Amino acid sequence: MAIKLHILVGTMTGTAELVAQELELAFGDENLAIEITLMDGLDHRVFGRPGIFLICTSTYGQGEVPDNAKALYADLLSSRPDLSRVRYGVFALGDSTHVGTFCFGGKRFDEALGGLGATRLGAVFEHNASGGTLPEDVALEWFPEWIAEVHKLLDDDDDAPQNAALHPLKS
Ligand SMILES: Cc1cc2nc3c(=O)[nH]c(=O)nc-3n(C[C@H](O)[C@H](O)[C@H](O)COP(=O)(O)O)c2cc1C
Repeated sequence: MAIKLHILVGTMTGTAELVAQELELAFGDENLAIEITLMDGLDHRVFGRPGIFLICTSTYGQGEVPDNAKALYADLLSSRPDLSRVRYGVFALGDSTHVGTFCFGGKRFDEALGGLGATRLGAVFEHNASGGTLPEDVALEWFPEWIAEVHKLLDDDDDAPQNAALHPLKS
């Protein structure tokens, strides 16, 4: 089954965007169409696009989403769309020296999307900038297992956007 994967990128200094670009280069093909979209200027309607989503975002401030993700995050919380047809994964970038707010950017999106009825595919992946690995390298190792799990879950999921026409979002 061919999959359309939207990678939505929240970033301050470009690291999360590099992760998305590496994934697209390595794994995008006729069976997996990957489209990278920076979160700047997005609102909840982005989740009306057919396909599945990978939230790829860093964390800033004290456990906040990056500046370019703030409007989308705030809009999700205020508009409260029905996202019950949305399927998503999370690749969260953070640094464990920020004790108590590690990878909160990704975790905040996960909580928001889950609270709006969306279904997460796989576990939230947490990359630690202090862990001695580069997120783009780790992502290339992580992705094949994640996408295999996604295929399995979508095959059993009659309500997934791949298997039925996507209904317009109620908002
Ligand atoms: C000012 C500042 C604040 C940060 N705050 C957090 C934080 O609260 N929690 C966390 O896990 N990481 C935090 N980080 C780490 C970044 O999320 C991490 O370095 C990430 O890889 C940066 O990715 P980006 O270039 O895509 O924004 C912070 C980094 C900076 C520079």
